Amino acid sequence: MLTRFNHVAIVVPDLEKAKRKYKDILQANVSEINDYEEHGVSVVFVEIGGTKIELMHPYGEDSPIKNFLDKNMNGAIHHICLEVKDINETAKDLKKKNVRILGDGIPKNGAHNKPVIFLHPKDFFGTLIELEQE
Ligand code: CO
Repeated sequence: MLTRFNHVAIVVPDLEKAKRKYKDILQANVSEINDYEEHGVSVVFVEIGGTKIELMHPYGEDSPIKNFLDKNMNGAIHHICLEVKDINETAKDLKKKNVRILGDGIPKNGAHNKPVIFLHPKDFFGTLIELEQE
């Protein structure tokens, strides 16, 4: 079912500061800040040998990660993203296996413009898992 590790997402209180820290201290290859109004997040991509870290900060008042940052004011790992061959098949299969999918369970386009679903963290040992169509 799983084919590749895609990214780990970290919510940070100050995106510019986090970007500089990864660049200056860890000498990482970092992107500019990208705003995704429709997803309510701003993101900096940290590229590391074919995979990446996504540094995220809430964008706008109804951001889905606003509560998370309120509860983790110094920042924290938010989710990991794994790729699957067929997201629709995977969603169907997981429902059969009683894994809870957040929202209505139908794959939606994520920040990379590919369909994604999120699995309930209580079904995966406290980790929020994003599954993305490869
Ligand atoms: Co993600």
